[in-house]
Formats: sequence, structure tokens, C-alpha cells
Amino acid sequence: MQIQLEYQPYASVQADALVTYVFDKEDKLDGAVGEIDRAMGGKIAALVKSGELTGKSLELVLVHFPEGLAARRLLLVGAGKPEKFAVSDLRKIAGTAVRYLKSRGMKTFVFLTRDGERGPTAAQATVEGLIVADFESDKYRTDRKNREIQSVSLAGFDTGLGVNLTAAIEHGRVVAESQNFARDLINEPSNKLTPRMLAARAEAMANEAGLGIEILDERKIAELKMGALIGVAQGSVEPPRVIVVRYTPANPRPGAPVLGLVGKAVTFDTGGISIKPAANMEKMKYDMGGGATMLGAMRALAALKPSVPIIAVIAATENMPGGRAQKPGDVQVAMSGKTIEVINTDAEGRLILADAVFYARQLGCTHLIDAATLTGAIEVALANVHVGAFGTPREYLDRFLESAKAVGEKMWPMPMDDEYEEMIKSNIADIRNTGSGKGGGASTGAWFIKEFAEDTPWIHLDIASTCWVDEGRPWLAKGPTGVAIRSIVDFALKM
Ligand code: BES
Ligand code: ZN
Ligand code: ZN
Repeated sequence: MQIQLEYQPYASVQADALVTYVFDKEDKLDGAVGEIDRAMGGKIAALVKSGELTGKSLELVLVHFPEGLAARRLLLVGAGKPEKFAVSDLRKIAGTAVRYLKSRGMKTFVFLTRDGERGPTAAQATVEGLIVADFESDKYRTDRKNREIQSVSLAGFDTGLGVNLTAAIEHGRVVAESQNFARDLINEPSNKLTPRMLAARAEAMANEAGLGIEILDERKIAELKMGALIGVAQGSVEPPRVIVVRYTPANPRPGAPVLGLVGKAVTFDTGGISIKPAANMEKMKYDMGGGATMLGAMRALAALKPSVPIIAVIAATENMPGGRAQKPGDVQVAMSGKTIEVINTDAEGRLILADAVFYARQLGCTHLIDAATLTGAIEVALANVHVGAFGTPREYLDRFLESAKAVGEKMWPMPMDDEYEEMIKSNIADIRNTGSGKGGGASTGAWFIKEFAEDTPWIHLDIASTCWVDEGRPWLAKGPTGVAIRSIVDFALKM
């Protein structure tokens, strides 16, 4: 999708469609929409008056061959109440326009922004909305339609002196394309994306982006004594991999913090010996979503060049039952030396993260963020609305939540009180990999990981219910969402 700035008067731009938005109960059309209304001889005002155009959020009104405009169609998108409007709404409006027009075979359009949303932040959000909406999960369909929005022109943005819109557009593009890169990985079925294949995809990305990469194979993993990861991986014929991706800034400051991005990449989670029921098990191909998230974030950061070094550590394995699989009651020794009683082999994410988090600290990470499709319990707590965000110290988590808010990703702070620590005490080892069974499953999962982060500032993002959506939205296809990448990128850039 080509994206460029448009300088021509709105009414004379040629395209398949001109897209703009109208607020709830906006009876006095002014600014850019007023201009279009005048060119059309008051037709938009008439639509408002008739009640067909109400401006309620994401309502769509399509006008064919609008008289007075050079564009072949006018698409008006509802923007909701003006006092509630935020930059994140631009993402949704732009995305909704892409999906609506693309499904009707259109190839080019002009997106006209309005007063108040004309700066670089608005341009970046618009571009993100456009590109994220363009993603389709149709890679394995032989009958895919290959519809394509070839070109979008951005109109109405502030092109005044000193405003760097081009940089904002490029920023939006790299973040959104990295989100789509992760979504493509998350979509892959487990026979097309084993741990080894994920490592190969990470390597190709790193080479293209100019990042350092090292892939630890099963021998190296054994040498490092990553017993918790090995315990999960031993049930599968597919060997595990630990993928280490490095970004080094051009002029590293001595003593600067080192950000560690740790990802859970279970390329398929059967549950192991504590096997999952058959219903919906096919979805466990997306249990590598945390790892894909971190690879997507690294891809974007390579281009956006934060000032701090960043190391991603992704633990990749299958979780399978089998003759060699670990069994409930087994005790594993993690790389850190802590002993773990495996109560439930389906609580495998925290096991592999235990070693990945510890290894990230050994590599010199002073600050950590992990992302994982860790628990079904987070869906009970937050549905598919918010990412569950855990972390210590609280100020570190709060700073991250500021980034999430700035980029329009919904995340909710979850409790990390000491009581949850009690729930993962084991009778025979240091800790056990499940809670007491009396609720709080997302928090006990988080506490387990914290046992390995110890005092290193650490954030844990449970994306089990937000990394994938079963129902599409007007601005987003169903399937993988690429959630958390925008927040992580924003946070790293502000570090
Ligand atoms: N991968 C699952 C969590 C999950 C569930 C992800 C639904 C996406 C959608 C994880 O490994 C798991 O099975 N967790 C268990 C933990 C329990 C056994 C303590 C769970 O949440 O049921
Ligand atoms: Zn599991
Ligand atoms: Zn899992």
C-alpha cells in the first residue's frame, strides 16, 4: 500500500473514494467537511438533516458519484461524540475505511483528516490504522481474491514548516508492518512453524533489519542447564530453540539500561500429559504469540533506533504428550537452580519463561518485559478487551501503562500481592507450577515468572485473550491482532 501526502484541493482529487469522518450530532459542518459540503451543494448537510448520517461511532454512509467531487465515491465514517474523540479513533476510522472499500474492490482513496487531528501523531495513527487493517489471514487459501488497496493519499494534515509528517508516516508504517509481520507468524499452523522454523524466520528478519541474532540449539540449551525449558520440550520430537535477537544503538551510553524482551513461543500447546480437551485445541498454534510479539517489536525498533540496547530472548518449543514427556509430579531444576514441581504439564509457558527470563538477566538485561499467552484465567478477568499487565516495581509498570495509553492499546494493571506467592509453594520443591486452584490463576502465573526475574524491574503481559480474536472488527480482521507491539516500541523509544 502506497501512502503519500495530498496537497490538491479536496474536491478535485481523483480517486475511487474520498473518505472523511463526521461527529455525532454535527449539524454545523465546518472545516474540511464544510468545504466538501459546499462543493457538493449542501448534500452532506441534507444527509445529516434526513437522519441517515448521524455520526455515531463507525457508522458508514457511502455516496456514489458525488456531484461536485472528482472522487468517484464519498465515504463518511461516524466519529462518535467529539468530546470523546482521541487519536486512537483515527486508527479505527482509517482501518474501517480500508476494510470497507477493499471488500468492494476499490484500489485508491483519499483520507481527509479534520481540524484538531492534523499533526504528526495523528498522521502516524492513521497510517497504522490503514496498514493493520490491510492484513488478511488468507495465505493458505487457493481461492483468495488478492484485492488490494494500492494507494492512499492523506489530505488535510498540517504540512507547515517544521512539521515532519514524512517521518511520522514512516514511523507508522514500520510499526504497523511489524505488527503484521508478527500476525503472519501467529497465523502459521504448527506444521508450518516448528521451533526450528520460527528460528529461521527470526534469523531472516534479523538479517534484513540489521539486528544481531544467535540461535541456541538443543545442545547449547542442555549445556546451559535450562531444565525447565527442557522439561517441556522433552515430550516432542521437534527440538526446542532459544532465539536471541540483539539491537545495539550506534553510540551506546556507558551504564545505560539494557531492555530485555522475553517471549513465550510454544508453537503448539497440546497441554502435554495434562492434555487439553479437543474442542478449540487447534487454536493452540497461537501459543507462540508472545515470541512473535517480541520479534515484531524488534523488527520495528531496528528501524526506529532507540538509544538503549535491547535483547530479545524467545523460548520456542512444542508442548506434547509422549513416551518421553514430563509427567505431573516431576521435579525440574531451572537454569537458576530453583527446583520446580510440575503439577500440571499444561502450565508450560511459565516453565519456559523461567529459563528465558533468567537467561536474559545473565545476558545483562537490567529491565525486563515478557509477553505470553499464559493463562485462560486472564480471559475470565478481562475478556478480550484488555491485556493483563503485571509488574514490579509498580512505578515501572505505570510507566509502561502510559505508553500503552499513548498508542491506544488497552492494558489493565493486575495485582502482584505476596498472597499469590504463597499459592505457588510446593511440598517437595521450591515452587510448583500451578496455584492453589482457588482462583487468581493469572496472578499465580505471573508470580511464578517473578521468581526468576527477582529484583530486576519486570513487566509481564498476559496476552492469552487479546493476541487472537475470533470475531473480526470493522477495522481488524479476525485472527491474530499483533497487540502489545505498539506499546513495547513506544516504551523502548522513551527509555
Ligand atoms: N497456552 C495456555 C493458555 C491459553 C489459554 C492461551 C487459552 C490462549 C488461550 C497455557 O499454557 C495454559 O494451558 N494455561 C493453563 C494453566 C493452568 C493449567 C494452571 C490454563 O490457563 O488453563
Ligand atoms: Zn498450556
Ligand atoms: Zn501454553
